[in-house]
Amino acid sequence: MKHLLASIALTALATPLAAAEVASPDGRLVVEMNVDGGGVPFYRVLRDGEEVIAESDLGFTFSDAQTMRRNFVVESEARASHDGTWEQPWGERRFVRDNHNELSVTFRESRDNSDRALTVRMRVFDDGIGFRYELPENPAQPVYNIAEELTEFHIAKPGTAWWIPSGDWNRYEMVYQETPVDAVSVAHTPITMRLEDGTHLSFHEAALVDYSGMWLRRMEGQRFRAMLAPSSRGAKVVRTGAFNTPWRTIRIGDAASDLVESDIDLNLNEPNKLGDVSWVEPAKYIGIWWGMISNRWTWGTSERHGATTARAKKYIDFAAEHGFRGVLIEGWNIGWDGNWFDNGREFSFTQDYPDFDLEEVAAYAKSKGVRIVGHHETSGNIANYEKQLGDGLDLYESLGIDWIKTGYVADAGGIVTCNADISVPCDEDTELFEWHDGQRQVQHHQLVIEEAAKRKIAINPHEPVKDTGLRRTYPNWVAREGARGQEYNAWGPFNNGPEHDPTLVYTRMLSGPMDYTPGVLDLKGENDVPIASTLAKQLGLYLAIYSPIQMAADFIESLAAHPKELEFIKAVPADWAESKLIAGEVGDYAIFARKDRNSEDWYLGGVNDATERTLELPLDTLEPGVTYTATVWKDGPDATYLTEKRHEIAYETLTLTAEDSYTVRLAPGGGFAMRLVPRE
Ligand code: NOJ
Ligand code: CA
Repeated sequence: MKHLLASIALTALATPLAAAEVASPDGRLVVEMNVDGGGVPFYRVLRDGEEVIAESDLGFTFSDAQTMRRNFVVESEARASHDGTWEQPWGERRFVRDNHNELSVTFRESRDNSDRALTVRMRVFDDGIGFRYELPENPAQPVYNIAEELTEFHIAKPGTAWWIPSGDWNRYEMVYQETPVDAVSVAHTPITMRLEDGTHLSFHEAALVDYSGMWLRRMEGQRFRAMLAPSSRGAKVVRTGAFNTPWRTIRIGDAASDLVESDIDLNLNEPNKLGDVSWVEPAKYIGIWWGMISNRWTWGTSERHGATTARAKKYIDFAAEHGFRGVLIEGWNIGWDGNWFDNGREFSFTQDYPDFDLEEVAAYAKSKGVRIVGHHETSGNIANYEKQLGDGLDLYESLGIDWIKTGYVADAGGIVTCNADISVPCDEDTELFEWHDGQRQVQHHQLVIEEAAKRKIAINPHEPVKDTGLRRTYPNWVAREGARGQEYNAWGPFNNGPEHDPTLVYTRMLSGPMDYTPGVLDLKGENDVPIASTLAKQLGLYLAIYSPIQMAADFIESLAAHPKELEFIKAVPADWAESKLIAGEVGDYAIFARKDRNSEDWYLGGVNDATERTLELPLDTLEPGVTYTATVWKDGPDATYLTEKRHEIAYETLTLTAEDSYTVRLAPGGGFAMRLVPRE
């Protein structure tokens, strides 16, 4: 039957085949799939009848088999539609609608000596598309050794792109570049674009499981091609038998808010596999952290050692007094002395330093109703970590520690492993080096998440692989870093620049929650270097950069010295019923309205770039007919990130309803935050 269909399709090749088409539920997006004259499968995306993605090729090359590209015919097509709503255990919004039309096209190779097939499953939503390859089991190619994916993204019109380079030493921790689309080189995803006709696009991937992360390499003009993160084993991806690739996603909208509010990547992930996850509690935390980052304390042994029993108790007292759930403690375990970021071989995940007693501190925390946030820095040595993973997790579990921040500080391409088989013991002579987003590291993250879930522990990796929506499947994957965080502000004046935060909202944040660590209220890093932020912006960050675990990153003395700001940080939720971007442009500013998941309160606020601006904000997201008491933290009249006036903040209390608007001045490098509580 297969062959009959193939030959029918082959005959049809002489005359052009009618393209298979699928439209979004609202009809505005149409995707075509077909093969070209050479039998190369391709797709094309139209919006309101105009091309957004021009003909873009699909296919693979292998390290040990013929390229899958030419000589394909359309063998069959299948259609489906879905409209449903699912509930998130925590997140930016409680309910997520998944409304899409689906078209799967199976392409079959028509060479004499081969019998290979390739299915492309395409889902079209009102706010974008996602497609993946499905490769069947094939006795002639039992193992797919993928050298490269040939997926193209041919952007039909010129525009501007916001992006960071991939394959660079610093992983994802770079300031974003804003360039013409045709000046991008090789970029990480999400990469965001605004075309000259105003169309907003963002390219990313969903459900990156047992595969290499996708980079986008510009081939010529506005034509990009997937480039998979390399592997030390030759083929970039090795898969046995039938498998599906991650989904390649394109968010498409008229406005920046369409990108920010889109849930297509979550919708393309598998539902929760962990069952009851009520033990994953969104909350806020403080930590023994900024002291080491800003070089006042040390991770390792010294007179300035940060993680001492005495200091931990002081932080626990502060957390208990102010209602913070967690206290992060870094540098408690043996292995930090010397050049800890060099190889990670010395890290123990069970032994504490002599001046720190983990059992005593955990018992003290328990007596105060506070949770320790555990820490596992690996310096990218996953061989060493995987050997101790069970013991390290067991220890934390036994002490009631249910969040762990992990870390993979190593140059990109410097993850130390030994063998694809993680059970094989390894030493220096057998070390292999992998990428933070190569298949081996993707497998590693999954192992950690699954082992942690067995022990009801939530994980927050720094220097991670990028987020691709897997929190839907594994809701204990609460946040990650995966971008340039607040920590850079400790290391040089204006290190992140005022536009960094409003750029993150439209780029990195499209992939999922980030542990950005807001709340450095004294606005100073190492040697008192200034941060490119006003005081109000540090509060606005809690609304602009979502995470279910939000840190108040500053020293507790500094938090205590800002009682009014601390009042906001204590109140602001880390879990929302609804989230809307009510004003914003990519890279310029971002103002959100978010509704608390556990009360009727709303919060408004966000962050600005270097340009002073006054915004009149609509309040029509509020509940109609309800009168709110609004408390505002905003930039003082002369506030600017450029001078000591960055500390100038103003407060006001207002009465507001959904029919009102609210006018606010955002300082250069400024921001604001507002809490709206319904009147009795
Ligand atoms: C880099 C992380 O981003 C930071 O948060 C952490 O404190 C250090 N690595 C040490 O693990
Ligand atoms: Ca980092």
